[in-house]
Amino acid sequence: MMKTQGCQGIFGALTASVALLGTIVLNASPVLGQAVPPARTETGVSAYLFDLSQIQLTDSRWLENQDRTLAYLKSVDVERLLYNFRANHKLSTNGAEACGGWDDPTFPFRSHMQGHVLTAWSQCWATLQDTECRDRATYFVAELAKCQANNANAGFATGYLSGFPESDFNALEARTLSNGNVPYYVIHKTLAGLLDVWRHIGDTNAKDVLLSLAGWVNTRTSKLSTSVMQAQLETEFGGMNDVLTEIYYWTGDSQWLTAAQRFDHAAVFTPLAADQDKLSGLHANTQVPKWIGAIHEYKQTGTTRYLDIARNAWNITVSAHSYAIGGNSEAEHFHDANAIAEWLDNDTAEACNSYNMLKLTRELWTVDPDPKFFDFYERALLNHLLGQQDPSSAHGHITYFTPLNPGGRRGVGPAWGGGTWSTDYESFWCCQGTGVETNTKLADSVYGRSGDDRTLYVNLFTPSKLTWAARGATVTQTTSYPAGDTTTLTIGGSGAWDLKIRIPGWVAGGASIAVNGAEATPADAAPGRYATVSRTWAPGDTVTVTLPMGLRVVPANDNQTLAAVAYGPTVLAGNYGDVAVGSAAPVLDLGSLKQKSGGSLEFSGATADGQAVDLGPFYDAQGFNYVVYWAVQGELP
Ligand SMILES: *[C@@H]1O[C@H](CO)[C@@H](O)[C@H](O)[C@H]1NC(C)=O
Ligand SMILES: *[C@@H]1O[C@H](CO)[C@@H](O)[C@H](O)[C@H]1NC(C)=O
Repeated sequence: MMKTQGCQGIFGALTASVALLGTIVLNASPVLGQAVPPARTETGVSAYLFDLSQIQLTDSRWLENQDRTLAYLKSVDVERLLYNFRANHKLSTNGAEACGGWDDPTFPFRSHMQGHVLTAWSQCWATLQDTECRDRATYFVAELAKCQANNANAGFATGYLSGFPESDFNALEARTLSNGNVPYYVIHKTLAGLLDVWRHIGDTNAKDVLLSLAGWVNTRTSKLSTSVMQAQLETEFGGMNDVLTEIYYWTGDSQWLTAAQRFDHAAVFTPLAADQDKLSGLHANTQVPKWIGAIHEYKQTGTTRYLDIARNAWNITVSAHSYAIGGNSEAEHFHDANAIAEWLDNDTAEACNSYNMLKLTRELWTVDPDPKFFDFYERALLNHLLGQQDPSSAHGHITYFTPLNPGGRRGVGPAWGGGTWSTDYESFWCCQGTGVETNTKLADSVYGRSGDDRTLYVNLFTPSKLTWAARGATVTQTTSYPAGDTTTLTIGGSGAWDLKIRIPGWVAGGASIAVNGAEATPADAAPGRYATVSRTWAPGDTVTVTLPMGLRVVPANDNQTLAAVAYGPTVLAGNYGDVAVGSAAPVLDLGSLKQKSGGSLEFSGATADGQAVDLGPFYDAQGFNYVVYWAVQGELP
C-alpha cells in the first residue's frame, strides 16, 4: 500500500483546503500526514506536534547533520544487517558478512540496531519522500517476515523475531540470564521500528510482522504471575509498555493495552507517582522509556496516575539530574539528586537518555503546552545531541557519552564509552541507534498546533518549512539562530489564526516581534511564555522575532562556583587544542569574556588560569580538548 500523504498528498490537501477556504474544514486528525491514521483518540491532549511529513528542514547545520545520517542509512549494507535475524531463524545468510560491535553474532543482545534503522528510514520517507529509504525499509520488513515465517523450523514459538535464541527469555523469567543481557530491550526496538514502517510508509507487511511479534509477547507474558513479571522487569526492557500502548492506539485492539500494562514497573512507578526522587543508583536509560510509556498510557486510559509519573519523572530529572547541556547520567547511572559537580568525567550524558527525554518532553507538552518544555528541548537538542555527531564524518558518526571533565574530547576513548566515535559496522551501540533516529527527525518538534487548529505554535528556531494543511497555510522559517538572535517566519496562505511564538526563559532584555516590518510586540512576549500574534494572515506576511541573547552562567546544582557559560541558548566550551588540561577545572575570569564582533558565538582571548583561551559553541567542539564546566570567578561583563 502506498502512503496517502506523500508530497503529492500534502500539496493535494493544500489545494483542496485553499479551494474550500470559504467553509474552513478543520481536520480533526491528530497526526495528519501519517500513512495510516491511529484507530483511537487520546485523552487529555490539547495540542499536537506536526507529523514529520509536514516539515522539511532547509539549509542549516541541522540539515547537514540529517544529510550525513541519510548518507549512512543509504549506504549501510542491508544484507549485513539481516545476518543475525537470518542466522537465528535458520535461513541462509546469503554469504553476507556479519557485523561487529553490538551486532556481532556472539554479542548477547545483538539485533537492536535494526529497529532504529527501520524508524530512521521511515522518518526519511516522511520528511524527505526519500524512495530509497522507503524501499530499504519495506525490503527489510519483507525479509524479517521470512524469518518469522520459518519459526517452526527454527524451533521458535509463533511470532518470535530476533537475532538471538528465544531461550534467553526462559532465562530472563528464571532470573538466570547473564548480567547485561537485555532481550526485551531489543524486542522493543524491533516493534518500534515495525510500527514506524507501518504508520509512516503504510507497509501492511510491517503491520503483520509487528502484530505477530506483539502477539508472541502477549502470549508469553499472559502466562506469568505478577511477581514473576515484576521480577523480570528488573532487567532493562526499553519501552515495552510504550510500544504496546502505541500499538493499541494504532489498532484499537485492547489486548495490546493489557499487554502494555504488564510492563508497568511498580518499583520505579510507585515512588514517582508520589513525587519521590528514588533515582539514585538506577541505570538511567532503563527508566526514561518507561516514563514515555506512562504518558502514552495516560493518553490511552485517562488514568492520571500515569500522568503524575511522567510529569514527576521529567521534573525530577530536569531539575536535579541534568547537566548544563541537558544530558543526564554518569557511567549510565543516575546519582544523588543535584550531584552534578562531583560527576564530571568521560562518561557523562549518555546520548540515549537525552533522545528519550526529548520524546518524553514532547509528549508532556501536548498535555500541557507550556513553553518550559521547549526550553528544555532546545537545551538538550542544541547543546547535547547536535554536537554528538561528528561533522567531519560523511556518515554522521556519533559518541556514546559526552565527556564533561576538564579537557574532555569527543573522538577519543576506549572501544566504546568516553567520547569515541562510532563506525559503520564495528560499533552499533545503543546511542548509534538512537542517533540515526535523532538526526532524521530534527524538525519534528519545531511547530505545534492546538487541537482546534486555531493556533500555531513555534517552539524552536530551526530553518524549515511547515505545511499546515488544515489551514491551507505554510510557514517558512529562515534564521541563523543561535548565532543570530532573529528569526523570520513567512506565511503562505491566508486566514485568521493565532501564532504563538516561544519566548525562551533565557531571553535577556525584551523580545520583540514585527509583522511586515512594523513593530507588533504583544504584551505576552515575556521570557518563559508564548507571545501571541493574532491576525488575519495574507500570503507573504512576515513575522520577525528578535530574542536578545546575553551571557549566562549555569552553575552546577551542587556547587555554585563550578559553572558552564552560555550565550542565549548555546552552551560555550573552551578550546584547548591538543593541550592537556589538568583534572581541576580551570579558573575562568568571567569579566574577561569578550564576543568577537559580528554576532558570532566566538569569544576570543578570555582568561582562564591566567592563560588566554577561546570559547565557542559546545556543539562545534569536535577534534580538540575542551572545557565546559569552569571554576568561575568575578562577574560577567
Ligand atoms: C519542578 O517542580 C518544582 C515544584 O513544583 C518547581 O519549582 C520546578 O520549577 C519544577 N522544575 C521544572 C524543570 O519544571
Ligand atoms: C578520559 O579519557 C581519556 C582518553 O581515553 C583518558 O586519557 C583520560 O584519562 C580519561 N579521563 C578520566 C577522568 O577518566
